[in-house]
Amino acid sequence: MKDEAIAGLDIGSTKTCAVVAVPRNGIFEIIGIGEAPSDGLQRGLITNLEAVVRSIELAIEAAERMAGVSIAQVYLGLSGDHMQTRNTQASVAISNDQHEIREQDVVRVLDASHRTDDEHERRTLHALPRSFTVDGFAGVLDPLGMEAKRLEVDAHIISGATPMITNLLKCVSRAGLEPVGIVFEPLASAAATLDRDTMEAGVLLLDIGGSTTDIALYSRSRVLHTGVIPIGSSFLTRDLSVGLRTSFAESERLKRVFDYEGDDERMINVSMLAGQRDGQINHGQLRAIIVPRLHELFRMVRNDLAKLADRDLQIDEIVLTGGGANLLGIERAVSDFFGLSARVGLPAMIEGLTDEMKQPQYATAVGLLVYGPSGTARPTRPRRQSFLRKFTTWISELWN
Ligand SMILES: Nc1ncnc2c1ncn2[C@@H]1O[C@H](COP(=O)(O)OP(=O)(O)OP(=O)(O)O)[C@@H](O)[C@H]1O
Ligand SMILES: [Mg+2]
Repeated sequence: MKDEAIAGLDIGSTKTCAVVAVPRNGIFEIIGIGEAPSDGLQRGLITNLEAVVRSIELAIEAAERMAGVSIAQVYLGLSGDHMQTRNTQASVAISNDQHEIREQDVVRVLDASHRTDDEHERRTLHALPRSFTVDGFAGVLDPLGMEAKRLEVDAHIISGATPMITNLLKCVSRAGLEPVGIVFEPLASAAATLDRDTMEAGVLLLDIGGSTTDIALYSRSRVLHTGVIPIGSSFLTRDLSVGLRTSFAESERLKRVFDYEGDDERMINVSMLAGQRDGQINHGQLRAIIVPRLHELFRMVRNDLAKLADRDLQIDEIVLTGGGANLLGIERAVSDFFGLSARVGLPAMIEGLTDEMKQPQYATAVGLLVYGPSGTARPTRPRRQSFLRKFTTWISELWN
C-alpha cells in the first residue's frame, strides 16, 4: 500500500496543502491531509525557491504523519498570472476507409487546436473540447463512431509559461517527490466540488485564494472558459491594514469577524500598531473597506466573462471555493452583485473525506486527486498520449 499512496499538492500563496489518497476497489480514497504556511509563491510566481521547497516538505510530512504512509508521487496544481487561456478552432480530414471518427482523429484535431504554441515559452496543459462540428453540423458533444469526412473542434486551450512550470517542478523534485501530472487549479477545485448535474446545468466556479481568484465556467458538462484574476482575499487584509493602521495579523482577525450581512452599528475592538492607542471601530468601517475591494474583484470576473462570445449561455449558480469563500456572508455579496444564487462549495467528489477536510480552501488539493488520475498534462510524457487519456476520460466521465 505504501507505494501506491499519491498526493494532490496545492502550492498556494498563503498555504501549501497536500492531500493523500490510496486506491481502494478501483477508486481513490483520501486517507490524510497536511498543510504548511507558504510564502515563497505569489500569483504563481516563485519569489523564494527554498521557501517553496520547505513548505512542500512540511505539508507532505504532515500528510504522511496523518495517513501513516510515505508519499512519492504528486499531482501538482498550477495557477497564476502566467497562465493563459483561449478558445480556438481546428479541423482535420477523416481519412480511414470507413470515414469513421476514431479516438486518434479526436487527438489529432485537439493537437491541431494548439499547434502554434512555442513549447520553449509556453506549455499547453489542457486542450479541452467545447464542442465538435461533424461535416458542418455543429454542437456535437461526442463525435466518436460517427461517419464523416471532416471533424472540427472548438477547444479551450490552457497554457502556462514554461520557465514558471519548470521551476515549480524543480521545487517538487527538490522536495523528493515525483510529479506525475499537472492540473490547472480551477479545474481541480471544480472537480472536487461540482457534481455532474451542476456542470450540466451551467455553473461559474470562483476559487478565491490569497493572491488570485481562479475562474471556471461549465455548461452542458463542458468547460467553456477558465481564467485567473490577480486579486485574492489577502487584498482585503492588506486594505484593512492600511486603512485602519493595524498589523497584518490583526487585520486578518478583523476580516474574519466581518459579516457582509452583519449590523454596521456593532462595535469591534481593534489593537492598533505600536505607538498608537488601541480603540474601537464600528462594523460599518470594515464594510467601507472590504466591500469596494470585493466589488472590484467581482467586476474583473464579470469583465473576464464578457469576452465570451456565447450570449445564450445559461448559468444556474455561482459556487465559491478557496479560503476567501470563508468570508461571512460572501454568498449574499456574490448574489447581490451578479444577480444569481451563490453557495460555498465544499470538497465532496471523492471517498474518505473527513469533516476537517470539507472546507473550501481544500477544494484545489482534493480536486487534484479527482481530476489528476483521470487525465492530465503529464510533465514527463509526450503530450499526444496525455491528450488521448484526457479525451477518453472526458467522454467516459461525462457522458457514459
Ligand atoms: N474565515 C475566513 N474568513 C475570511 N477569509 C478567510 C478565512 N479563512 C481564510 N481566509 C482567507 O483565505 C485566503 C487564503 O485562501 P487559500 O488558502 O485558498 O489561498 P491560497 O491557495 O494559499 O492562495 P492562491 O490560490 O491565491 O495561491 C487568505 O487571504 C485568508 O485570509
Ligand atoms: Mg489556491
